Amino acid sequence: MLDFTINEETCISCGQCASDCPAMIISMDTNLPQIAEDLAQYCIACLHCVAVCSEGAVSILGYGPEDGITLDTATVAGPEAVELLIKKRRSVRNYQDENVDPELTERLVAVASHAPSAHNDRALLYTLVDDKGIIYDLRDEAFAGLEQLIDAGNLPEGMEMFVDIMAAWKISGKDILFRGAPHLLIVSADRDCAAPLQDAIIALTTFELYAQANGIGTIWNGLATLVISELVPSLKQRLGIPENHEIGYTMGFGLPALNYQRTIARKAPRINRVK
Ligand SMILES: Cc1cc2nc3c(=O)[nH]c(=O)nc-3n(C[C@H](O)[C@H](O)[C@H](O)COP(=O)(O)O)c2cc1C
Repeated sequence: MLDFTINEETCISCGQCASDCPAMIISMDTNLPQIAEDLAQYCIACLHCVAVCSEGAVSILGYGPEDGITLDTATVAGPEAVELLIKKRRSVRNYQDENVDPELTERLVAVASHAPSAHNDRALLYTLVDDKGIIYDLRDEAFAGLEQLIDAGNLPEGMEMFVDIMAAWKISGKDILFRGAPHLLIVSADRDCAAPLQDAIIALTTFELYAQANGIGTIWNGLATLVISELVPSLKQRLGIPENHEIGYTMGFGLPALNYQRTIARKAPRINRVK
């Protein structure tokens, strides 16, 4: 079932795959790594056994060393580059009225899907709106739904800000709801998986950093998340998000219409150092 295969000619019996296996199901009893049949069910498919093997001798679930990138210091970004990427990330609220190259968008999502997930569930659904024409339709539907709620006096308590957002749209065509982003990525997961919300947020955090490394602007969108998941439920259906899915969050993205010229200062973090 797991197709756990060891290249007996190259395996040096170092036991690293066994000691790094989070499910602790790899034994070295015969000097070669093995997984007993009755333990296979506990594998969480993390592929650490493949990743850790210095000899490239391990394959599992149809994946082997040839499916990954061999790591050395030359292939991993240094700390300065990563620090700059984290510090230069900004919420972008000015976009070009252009579609992002769909191949790039697919790569961004594919890379983001490497983000960790609880119990390695990997159960996220990436709902992608990567055509600006569709965004225009969604925006119209969202504002029409909001207007109905407002006119009927059915806006839930604490959501009065949508009255002003609606007015800005109607009076001056200012889109505070989607912030003019031509694309949306909504990450959701079955409520039954181990940590649907956390997994979605981590995936979007990864997406955001990689998107910005590729010159694509992003915006975390709490307002659109509220509208899609609570206020205008027909949108969830229109987007094809399954009923039993919890929406983790919504992120707008697209080609930025401006460039930030510098990083900014932030207050020092509050640290509760335990002694
Ligand atoms: C969970 C979350 C929800 C957010 N929702 C919105 C939103 O609905 N609209 C918006 O314009 N910005 C939204 N933001 C962006 C924040 O306002 C922004 O991150 C903050 O002002 C700091 O700016 P920076 O991201 O450029 O560092 C959200 C950010 C987070 C993390």
